Amino acid sequence: MEADISAAPQDPDVARWRTLLARYGSEPVPRYTSYPPANHWREGMGSPEVHSALKQCGDRPLSLYVHVPFCRKLCFYCGCNMLVTRQAALVERYLRALDLEVDRMADLLPHIPEVVQVHLGGGTPTYLDPPQLTRLVETLHRRFSWRPEAEASIEIHPPVTTAEQMRTLAKLGFNRVSMGVQDFDPRVQARVNRIQSFEQTRDIIQLARDLGFVSVNVDLMYGLPLQTVDGFTRTLARIEELRPDRIALFGYAHVPSLKKRQGQFTAEELPGPELRLALFEQSMTRLLAAGYRYIGLDHFALPNDELCRARAAGSLRRNFMGYTTCADSDVLAFGPSAISDVGGSYLQNEREVHAWAQLLEDGGLAVVRGHSLSLEDKARRDLIMQLFCQLEVDLDAVARQHPGGLDGGFQDEELALRRLENDGLVVREDAHVRVSPDGQLLLRTVASAFDTYFRSATTVRRHAPAI
Ligand SMILES: C[S@@+](CC[C@H](N)C(=O)[O-])C[C@H]1O[C@@H](n2cnc3c(N)ncnc32)[C@H](O)[C@@H]1O
Ligand code: SF4
Repeated sequence: MEADISAAPQDPDVARWRTLLARYGSEPVPRYTSYPPANHWREGMGSPEVHSALKQCGDRPLSLYVHVPFCRKLCFYCGCNMLVTRQAALVERYLRALDLEVDRMADLLPHIPEVVQVHLGGGTPTYLDPPQLTRLVETLHRRFSWRPEAEASIEIHPPVTTAEQMRTLAKLGFNRVSMGVQDFDPRVQARVNRIQSFEQTRDIIQLARDLGFVSVNVDLMYGLPLQTVDGFTRTLARIEELRPDRIALFGYAHVPSLKKRQGQFTAEELPGPELRLALFEQSMTRLLAAGYRYIGLDHFALPNDELCRARAAGSLRRNFMGYTTCADSDVLAFGPSAISDVGGSYLQNEREVHAWAQLLEDGGLAVVRGHSLSLEDKARRDLIMQLFCQLEVDLDAVARQHPGGLDGGFQDEELALRRLENDGLVVREDAHVRVSPDGQLLLRTVASAFDTYFRSATTVRRHAPAI
């Protein structure tokens, strides 16, 4: 069976969605930026394990990620690893430590594969001024060679991004840009401490296009304090005017126990499950009607965007940076909290910028936690990635491709799969599982059926709701 892009949820049946989303939407499921999810990783990964993972970096091409943790101002909802600072000395220390980290990681690789993807994330990478951005990119170039057609993307925050920075980024080879908007509603913006005008956003998108960036992404968020369906509809209408190539529509993850800054939002001002659902439905319906295709996992793209083309061709992939058209790659990641995915292991750096820098200044690497994937983990990761990217999977084929990984078969999944099948989220034909158009709205829920860690009830509460 072939994944049929035309069968993606393009034809909204809001009443049916409502039933399904009401049934599954508030059930907590992992985000699946990794498998197993990060809450199952181990603290205190030792240098021998880290060195051994880096030494096993094979022939696959490389993706490079750099986490820039600084912001000019705090958005109260923010769940990212960032800090607001004006300390030039700290930024200097960060850039020097990054230099050390790139050298140390590169020294441990048996050989240096070519780079097919580079992503600067944050925080706000455009916190750095043009000379600092140039220095950061030169640090990478010193040890890694980028393919001429490499996907080079950066997250920017329009109010702190200048035309000069954008011109510098274009000269440095950046060709994709992603920016936060969340909501243009002035009441919401004031409440979340993020003032960003439509005009600022429009001008930076126009500039990116003039400079030849091939893809522009905008992040939106539903579930923020004071949001209403009418207000968010106006935001969507304005975004449709700007017509970014891609839109990420995130559900606000409210975890005040982990992110103290979120604690100031009261339960009364946060949209409850009903309103969250209405905001999601409204967004989905509007974006589809405006010509966007749903890629899956919060992401939309215009039909001529490369993500849509890759989905149709069956060549879509996914890694920590999100959906990509790049071939399977090892990921080397630098900066506080950054996660490498290399040689069959996840390696995560110390989160706090001073502590991260200190570890590097002391002569070591900054990895503090991680996970070495077992044969079963690798098989299940592959299976879940196929569901996310191809929207179908042949369980027997995955078992054959991973000898010793899935010897136990799939009896334990049966109950969850039958529920998904009865609700029309998946279609099964022998060992073949295909995600239905409705199931694409709940891809994480579908994936969770194959997640052995998720079955341990004690971890369930840590995850955000599916919608
Ligand atoms: C690093 S920021 C994007 C770049 C830049 N810092 C900005 O805000 O424009 C990454 C994105 O994560 C999303 N995000 C942040 N906190 C979140 C939360 N608590 N729940 C869901 N999404 C969140 C936002 O949509 C945000 O645009
Ligand atoms: S949303 Fe972006 S700009 Fe706002 S605090 Fe988070 S990382 Fe910084």
